[in-house]
Amino acid sequence: MNNSIKRIGVFTSGGDAPGMNACIRAVVRTAIYEGKKVSGILHGYQGMIDKNIIDMNSRSVSNILQLGGTILKTARCLDFRSPEGRQKAYHNIKAEGIDALVAIGGDGTFTGAEVFSREFDIPVVGIPGTIDNDLYGSDFTLGYDTANNTVIDAIDKIRDTAASHDRLFFIEVMGRDSGCIALNCGIAGGAEAILLPEKETGIDELIAKLENAAKDKKTSTIVIVAEGDKNGGAYNVAKRVQEKFDFYDAKVTILGHLQRGGSPSSFDRVLASRLGFAAVKNLLRGETRIMVGLRGNEIVTTPLEEALRSKEFKLAEDMIEMTNVLAI
Ligand code: F6P
Repeated sequence: MNNSIKRIGVFTSGGDAPGMNACIRAVVRTAIYEGKKVSGILHGYQGMIDKNIIDMNSRSVSNILQLGGTILKTARCLDFRSPEGRQKAYHNIKAEGIDALVAIGGDGTFTGAEVFSREFDIPVVGIPGTIDNDLYGSDFTLGYDTANNTVIDAIDKIRDTAASHDRLFFIEVMGRDSGCIALNCGIAGGAEAILLPEKETGIDELIAKLENAAKDKKTSTIVIVAEGDKNGGAYNVAKRVQEKFDFYDAKVTILGHLQRGGSPSSFDRVLASRLGFAAVKNLLRGETRIMVGLRGNEIVTTPLEEALRSKEFKLAEDMIEMTNVLAI
């Protein structure tokens, strides 16, 4: 046990994700169980700079397990990118007696955590919390499962109206750089085509698919467009397709931020609890600059640097191939 750690600071940063609250609860209660004090840093790195820090106990995290969002608030903090900002942050957390950190967030959060930990020699453990599922070292990130269920529910509802009106729907899902939600939900929702940031699909190729579907007597069609698709989003794709292919009446739905909200699924609650527990245990074992994650059913650790590496690994080739086969 690392006895030099007396007080752990926990924060959420970047886009919120369902399961963050369950994770905060696990961090706070594990740390207290181990005899440590806990501070909650509000609004992520911004809270370190502004000294927006609260003391937490077991009751501070009662009845939050089932809530979406994050009780610690979150932000994307530009000031933390400068050495002056990080110096101020370090000064403030030291003044609060915080001597180790648990960072819950995505790639931006971990980039900041890695630099900060090296500059000031402060132990940090990261927990992957983002609906994007785009971190190396964990099969799943917190919030991904819940977001998928939200998207699938929306696709099913849109399919009802698409089928009733014989329409073509373009549904845009989140994922600026990651096609995980698009691919997974496209398959689970039976989409006829899926456009991903990781793989370019030309408009002509898409039209050929839609023409084949129409020839094959499909009367309605759903195309999932990831936010980061290179054709420039669902509205652009729809416009360009309709210019050359007007067999169907085309409609666009942007699911947007509703994908980030809602009560976490049971999977996300359990994952959040396991990762929060593991993060504190690892910190107290003397680990630093690692991310805790899930591989198979095992909790594993990965250096933060590695977790920030290549993202393309997440898209299984068989799933990409299958989208064309199952959509005939
Ligand atoms: O990183 C999570 C994410 O939801 C991305 O999928 C999306 O591109 C981005 O956040 C949106 O961020 P913001 O809420 O800052 O617009």
